[in-house]
Amino acid sequence: MKKQLTLLLLTAVALPLFAQPPAYLNPAAPLEDRVEDALQRMTREEKVAMLHAQSKFSSPGVPRLGIPENWMSDGPHGIRAEVLWDEWYGANWTNDSCIAFPALTALAASWNPDMAALYGKSIGEEARYRNKNVLLGPGVNIYRTPLNGRNFEYMGEDPYLAAQMVVPYVQEVQKNGVAACVKHFALNNQEIHRDYVNVQVSDRALYEIYLPAFKAAVQQGGAWAIMGAYNQYKNQHCCHNQYLLNDILKRDWGFDGVVVSDWGGVHNTEQAIANGLDMEFGSWTNGLNWGKSDAYNHYYLAQPYLQLLKSGQADEEILNDKVRRILRLVFRTNMAPNRPYGAFGTQEHAEAGRRIAEEGIVLLQNTRNVLPVDLSNTKNILVVGENAVKRMTVGGGSSSLKAKYEVSPLAGIEARVGNAAQVTYVKGYESPATREQDVKDAKNPQVKVIDAKALRAEAVNAAKRADVVLFIGGLNKNGGQDCEGADRAGLELPYEQDLLIAELAKANPNTVVVILSGNAVAMPWVVQVPAIVEAWYNGTEAGNALAAVLFGDVNPSGKLPFTFPVRLKDNSAHAAGEYPGDGKKVTYRDDIFVGYRWLDKKKIKPLFAFGHGLSYTTFQYGKAVADKNAITAGEAVTITLPVKNTGTRAGAEVVQLYISDKKASLPRPVKELKGFKKIRLNAGEAQTVTFTIDHSALHFYDDAKGAWTAEPGEFEALIGASSADIKTKVTFTLKNDAPMR
Ligand code: BGC
Repeated sequence: MKKQLTLLLLTAVALPLFAQPPAYLNPAAPLEDRVEDALQRMTREEKVAMLHAQSKFSSPGVPRLGIPENWMSDGPHGIRAEVLWDEWYGANWTNDSCIAFPALTALAASWNPDMAALYGKSIGEEARYRNKNVLLGPGVNIYRTPLNGRNFEYMGEDPYLAAQMVVPYVQEVQKNGVAACVKHFALNNQEIHRDYVNVQVSDRALYEIYLPAFKAAVQQGGAWAIMGAYNQYKNQHCCHNQYLLNDILKRDWGFDGVVVSDWGGVHNTEQAIANGLDMEFGSWTNGLNWGKSDAYNHYYLAQPYLQLLKSGQADEEILNDKVRRILRLVFRTNMAPNRPYGAFGTQEHAEAGRRIAEEGIVLLQNTRNVLPVDLSNTKNILVVGENAVKRMTVGGGSSSLKAKYEVSPLAGIEARVGNAAQVTYVKGYESPATREQDVKDAKNPQVKVIDAKALRAEAVNAAKRADVVLFIGGLNKNGGQDCEGADRAGLELPYEQDLLIAELAKANPNTVVVILSGNAVAMPWVVQVPAIVEAWYNGTEAGNALAAVLFGDVNPSGKLPFTFPVRLKDNSAHAAGEYPGDGKKVTYRDDIFVGYRWLDKKKIKPLFAFGHGLSYTTFQYGKAVADKNAITAGEAVTITLPVKNTGTRAGAEVVQLYISDKKASLPRPVKELKGFKKIRLNAGEAQTVTFTIDHSALHFYDDAKGAWTAEPGEFEALIGASSADIKTKVTFTLKNDAPMR
């Protein structure tokens, strides 16, 4: 009896100890079970609280249930420094200096999905270490005009290239239990009037040009979050947009993640409830000073929503759908099983950034083989230009970073050259913003303002004495020069750089121009200088990566992810219009003919074509052959060609495949990128490159039918080194109609 009693007592005590935890706390439970379990434990107030910010970059969890807060960070080039709870000012932490990775244009220019994976892995680890569970990036808005101030945060003008690059980025970020929040969905292609401009675009251009990278990020990348754009589409703000969010993203693409608003992108409670928004951030972005003492509770999706729910005017099921999505986010990130711990500011990450930068730098021109600089016969190197010393990880808007360190181009060049030659630096030109900063920083406010002419004369004189001149200029992330919130005023380089370059070229025939930018720039001096390099904004290791290319340690292999037009009006948005619209709306009359599609159509010669990029070696393309000359909808054609390194050093080439539809019921671009392979070849080495093409590469979006289709008939696969340098082609036929979703 005594024994039995003891057993009973033990069981009574032990049972609760060994009882199963609630499903939502069980990391082994299926995701949807965790979601449903947590949801049914939550009060209405707790649910609504999760839908909106509690600070600049965080939203509440459910403290009562041990469900943690969500913490976001920009994105997309590094993990932003901590700001104060309610202000944009830095919080002055001393342990939040990150590795700044190259800008996304540089990543896209690598044309190497492995680099996108390395980028995603590294930045994801940085985010994780800093306890951010949502990374606000990557950005995949299509490069429509070279004036867009935020192009540097995006992946170029071609939907296929952007789609191929965004997928590994997203997948690798998320392996860290950190959500990628792909932005800005959608049609945010200019900064001017961005908060309200109503974009008018055909369904065809929407589906063929502006959406594919987002779709790939969601369906192939499995993105857990997406950020609505500031602008409007069909007269609704994109942060609460029935067509984009409910119809396309959630219904058609099956997105089960969270739609996050852009900061201050929400304008109306009813629409925010009904039209697909899940989380609201940055409304009246100055936090507490909107005249309310408790601003976050007054967000559109806060008390106003609660009131509607309480009075029965809002549907609880819509609320539950939003909360389910946020819970999914939490269980995929902060409460995920086996979540790694991340790493921050490491040498490994800096090296990853450097590799990506080295692969993205584009050698645009190299006559007389001025590059790489041969240190065995170079004594005096003159470096000219403000961008050789300006910090580029700072500025540009929300992607501005507090980098652990940043190697400037000058520092990189000096370190690489060492004692092998004399390196002299003169500024040559100066941007007003920098001058103002200098004056502000100076102890003596009377600091001398140097005039542009004198700066130029000093540089030109020094150029006469140098063996080689490395001019390092371009844009600079100051307002209006690759910066959020404003577009550029024109295609020209600012601060009279064109004058300076022309004079330098006259003074020294070995003048190399290095452009740092995230956008195409005009080059009126293009025939005057032998060598031109596009070196983007390359982050922490920028200067080392650049020096490695300039001095030949790295053989350049980057290719342009967008066209450099000769004149602004050679660009589709400026030729066919319109841009920037009338202040209320902008009509994309260029339709699907964006980037090289426009130049091809109009037979305009670019300054440098989409896909262009040189190497220090040469490649020979052999004849392409197809394994069959006709396919049905279910089949694929395999195209092969030999590519040989015919130079004297190892190098990498991006072999590009474009499809041309010979006859269709709707106008089609002359050609469209549908495949690319980056191959590495030693001197003299050859490789067979293989592409597999099925009907998905042949389709177009038929607005009238509201469907993708590939029409039977003849197609050409054009294979080359850029969109303007087709080396070989092969023809094949599609035998029957191939509709697809
Ligand atoms: C930008 C977003 C950014 C957000 C938070 C907005 O102004 O458009 O890209 O993620 O601010 O900083």
